[in-house]
Amino acid sequence: MIQSISIKKVAKKEKTIEVGWSDGKKSNFHFLWLRDNCPSDIHPTARERLFNLINVTENIHPESYKINNEGKLEIKWSEGNHISYFEPSWLRSHCYTINNSKKYVSPYKLWNKSLLENLNDISIKCEEILKSDESLFKWLEILHKYGVSIVKNAPTEKNSGLKVLNRISHIRETFFRTPFEVINIPEPNNIAYTAKKLDSHTDLPYFETPPGYQFLHCLINNADGGMSSIIDGFKIIEYLKNNELKTFEILKKVEVKFINNDYTQKTIRIVNSPLITLNKEGDYKEIRFNIGQTGTIDCSPELMEQFYKAYRRFAELLHSEQFCVNFKLKKGDILSFDNRRVAHGRAEYNPNSGQRHLQGYYMDRDEITSRLNYLRKIEL
Ligand code: OGA
Ligand code: ZN
Repeated sequence: MIQSISIKKVAKKEKTIEVGWSDGKKSNFHFLWLRDNCPSDIHPTARERLFNLINVTENIHPESYKINNEGKLEIKWSEGNHISYFEPSWLRSHCYTINNSKKYVSPYKLWNKSLLENLNDISIKCEEILKSDESLFKWLEILHKYGVSIVKNAPTEKNSGLKVLNRISHIRETFFRTPFEVINIPEPNNIAYTAKKLDSHTDLPYFETPPGYQFLHCLINNADGGMSSIIDGFKIIEYLKNNELKTFEILKKVEVKFINNDYTQKTIRIVNSPLITLNKEGDYKEIRFNIGQTGTIDCSPELMEQFYKAYRRFAELLHSEQFCVNFKLKKGDILSFDNRRVAHGRAEYNPNSGQRHLQGYYMDRDEITSRLNYLRKIEL
């Protein structure tokens, strides 16, 4: 436990204060780092740093330092007539030598078609989310880990999904308005608003940052057909990385142009992005995939053949039986998924055989991860 660890010794080195801990470990904190992170220079309610590092020189150093009576590291600085007090537990949990040497652990659990037998693992009752923070926490953890969750037994009045989503945070507005009505209409501005099959896709790839999460709230679904499909894009990246490295490299490198020229809007949206993006740890960050919303490819002529080979392979995998989970949404389900990870689609349905009406909402990834941080009581 970090709380019970105390400072045994402090020593001044050339550029750092060396802290010897009661468990025998050592940390070194750079003078500027310590001055920059002095807790007294944080605004008490805005919780923002007031200190500006350009107001001291890079030669700032402790004039004196000690472990004081309360066990805190106390430093009197050579500039600005300022004294800093650091809690040992804070210093230890923010020791950048220790933190920087930790191995990255991916928060994601990747899945394939076998998720269908374990839908219980990703399902959660709506009334529990509305009632308790523990259930909200569980829902967010599922969303973050699997990138997909099904909320069961939600009310089915129009717009009632918002109350459930507001347990997390506010939604992300788009020109499709909120909620967007997934129904079969004449002159649609999106293929989703027809009864046609929707191939595997991610929504709004023509935004610089496409909405992180999408929520499809099923109000009624008794028409023939209209099965939903989801597929874990990160699992597909993993598969390519392990088995088809060349395809993986091309998809990571070549920028694809995503376009939208909505006839109800006065906008022409164009965004260039690779189909696969990784984070700095090499973990999976995002896929974008939407055949209908892809413009002409303008990569260099030497790459065109390879690109199309890789693109077709990616498309094939994103529709493949091995990775795809198919199910029919029930009245009161809210299919919730990471739109930058999980590709989704639906089978064609017969609008004359019954009714199908989903209401859609978007939310940025920030809202999910930030609420999770809060509920996990992450220390800053
Ligand atoms: C959408 C969509 C799926 C469905 O609205 O973006 O993909 O099941 N809908 O209708
Ligand atoms: Zn969609």
